[in-house]
Amino acid sequence: MNHLIIIANPKKESFSASIASQIKNSAESYGNNVEVRDLYKIGFNPVLSEEDMISYAKSEYPKDVATEHEFIKWADVISFVFPIWWQSPPAMLKGYFDRIFSNGFAFKDKPDGSSEPLLNGKKCILFSTLGAGIDVYEKFGLKNAIKLLFADGTMGFCGITPLDYKFFGSIHKKTENEVALIMQEVDATIKQHCA
Ligand SMILES: Cc1cc2nc3c(=O)[nH]c(=O)nc-3n(C[C@H](O)[C@H](O)[C@H](O)COP(=O)(O)O)c2cc1C
Repeated sequence: MNHLIIIANPKKESFSASIASQIKNSAESYGNNVEVRDLYKIGFNPVLSEEDMISYAKSEYPKDVATEHEFIKWADVISFVFPIWWQSPPAMLKGYFDRIFSNGFAFKDKPDGSSEPLLNGKKCILFSTLGAGIDVYEKFGLKNAIKLLFADGTMGFCGITPLDYKFFGSIHKKTENEVALIMQEVDATIKQHCA
């Protein structure tokens, strides 16, 4: 299985980076072919421009977009790793969706106004770190809202099946033992879906 890991966190030493590294190790140990796209590290431009939109309409893609399209085409499963910022992915990842999951590549508008997903058969797993406690996010319905928007919404719209969405809350307060438990949970998730 081809496993693409997309990480969106500007900090080199972050919980997201540790989680991405665990996903890579686990996926490789279960026989996956792994590629990592670290969006800040590669200097991904997340701003969809008018120029982009004009060229997308002609099915022409700038080189950086075409490169990411190839990674998506290659992948059977995509793991997204990112912190929650303002109850959302960082703008970097939102911009990745804007520019890469484009009309004509990830979905297609139909003449009747509906749309057709084009990435059917692909699967994804989402991993997010949060400063707040999960209990707070559950109490206010925010956890389900985020899952609905980005897993069922964005991924589902493109035909990508979300296999799981793991939230790791109160992340700054974790003891060494609790961090080790998170890594075990990440490993178990990859084993369950990708082994
Ligand atoms: C711009 C910004 C916005 C944030 N918004 C939220 C938020 O809405 N909810 C929350 O629980 N934590 C929020 N946080 C805290 C981050 O989620 C937290 O620092 C991060 O998950 C830590 O994991 P990392 O080491 O992988 O970055 C925010 C942090 C930043 C920098």
